[in-house]
Amino acid sequence: MKLIDGKAVSEELKNSLKQDVLEYKKKTGRVPHLAAILVGDNPASKAYVGNKVRACEHVGFRSTLVKLEDTVSQEQLMDEIKKLNEDPDIDGFIVQLPLPKHIIENQVTLAIDPKKDVDGFHPVNFGRMAQGMPAFLPATPYGILLLLKRYNIETAGKHVVVVGRSNIVGTPISILLSRKSRSGDATVTLAHSRTRDLPNIVRQGDIVIAAIGIPGFITEDMIKQGAVVIDVGINRVEDEGSLSGSRLVGDVDFESVKGGCSYITPVPGGVGPMTVIGLLLNTFKSANKEIYS
Ligand code: GUN
Repeated sequence: MKLIDGKAVSEELKNSLKQDVLEYKKKTGRVPHLAAILVGDNPASKAYVGNKVRACEHVGFRSTLVKLEDTVSQEQLMDEIKKLNEDPDIDGFIVQLPLPKHIIENQVTLAIDPKKDVDGFHPVNFGRMAQGMPAFLPATPYGILLLLKRYNIETAGKHVVVVGRSNIVGTPISILLSRKSRSGDATVTLAHSRTRDLPNIVRQGDIVIAAIGIPGFITEDMIKQGAVVIDVGINRVEDEGSLSGSRLVGDVDFESVKGGCSYITPVPGGVGPMTVIGLLLNTFKSANKEIYS
């Protein structure tokens, strides 16, 4: 078994992006600028946004964090989005999910200018992605493609089983891997909570992508000998043995699965750091008008 080191790959890519940002600054006299809207004080969301802001500093981007109370109204949130849409210095922005229950998430996604939608969540970007047109790819699927490429893991002709059909991971990665392209050409099965005989389906995967949000869901008996296992889950579970009383685990039961697979991503340090670099690369593409010219 080989460990896929997302932390190391993301560091390599950030260092390379840092050089590109220096060139960009020389050429244009400005630096790329990413903004994030954070609503409420969900600890996981705060941590993710904190990672994104730190990563911006690392590569030389400007970042702006817009913090809103969890009592914010839909209208106030829409106003903040409008301001960022109209601010010529902002290359891209994200609204960190999840949002409080009273906020209509679809309205928020639709309000973001597709040209600044560096999360790739707007249906315009999703549709462009699905048709193989230039688009901002959702950051996590983008990060997974970069990891597969970095480790020379062939996808053409392989059977990929994706477990979980979310709008931000499972569905887009299934589309990307099945497309006629260098990073695709796979045969993809998208399995989910209503899939019948799921263990048997997952066992057919040459590459298994676990994005179902249930700690330790994928176990040894579901993994074919030599399969590649990509764990997208980030779940906090109680751990009396640790100082904080909890620890992060993926959707894969790492200890039982690791022996039989060819490659596996750890949690933390696998897909997670790649999501951040996906977002930074999208922002840099936006600054360079690479997707929408
Ligand atoms: N919440 C969990 N993942 C993401 C992400 O990639 N983008 C945003 N905006 N929110 C998230």
